[in-house]
Amino acid sequence: MGMVGTSLTVSLDGFIAGPNDGPANPLGDGGERLFAWYAGGDTEYVVPSGGMTFNVSPASAAMLRETYPACGALVTGRRTFDIAKGWGGRHPLDVPVFVVTHAVPPEWVGRDAPFTFVTDGVERAVELARAVAGEKNVGVGAASIVQQCLRAGLLDEIQVELVPVLLGGGVRLFDHLGIGPVALERTAVIPGDGVTHLRFRVVR
Ligand SMILES: NC(=O)c1ccc[n+]([C@@H]2O[C@H](COP(=O)([O-])OP(=O)(O)OC[C@H]3O[C@@H](n4cnc5c(N)ncnc54)[C@H](OP(=O)(O)O)[C@@H]3O)[C@@H](O)[C@H]2O)c1
Repeated sequence: MGMVGTSLTVSLDGFIAGPNDGPANPLGDGGERLFAWYAGGDTEYVVPSGGMTFNVSPASAAMLRETYPACGALVTGRRTFDIAKGWGGRHPLDVPVFVVTHAVPPEWVGRDAPFTFVTDGVERAVELARAVAGEKNVGVGAASIVQQCLRAGLLDEIQVELVPVLLGGGVRLFDHLGIGPVALERTAVIPGDGVTHLRFRVVR
């Protein structure tokens, strides 16, 4: 079995998107600064789907080469899915995506796309993702899903791609936790250009 982990780009004040996020403003006001590191270096990294090329520092490229192919399935929330417009039918990581939602979007029913809409909760979505990921890891994305996974004790690893900007508001990664303290052990610090990759093991 692989592990269950998350990797999200976060501002120094803890936001994964700025205020007023939505399909027309995917990362919210000022949030485009969060993803600037994907184009902030001179080393090319082509995502597993082949549909996107990042230009990052050598250290970030090495991290992406290690972590992306090790991911066998993703779990995300319905807001992220809608804001990303279903990644055009294929996620850049080219793995099955389990979308936690209260209602299956009718426009995606019957379409040939690797998305499963899970209406019975995060734990079920992680269970389904683990089953298809096998020996590979499960990546959980979006704030509400990470928070629920932490509460349910499902998360083995937290990686944040920390960006030196203060967004001042928006979608906070560790809001509404309702539990704590959660002990973490730092397992990697990778300085990139415009980003520092920090990896932690969740101590149980
Ligand atoms: N910085 C980064 O690396 C990064 C990466 C990914 C996303 N983002 C950003 O993060 C933001 C989205 O995160 P978010 O936390 O606001 O939203 P989210 O987790 O993507 O989606 C939340 C929605 O998922 C559904 N949901 C969640 N838990 C559920 C449950 N237990 N049962 C049923 N449905 C459930 C609900 O939608 P319904 O009620 O409509 O079904 C809920 O409103 C966006 O701005 C996105 O662009 C940033």
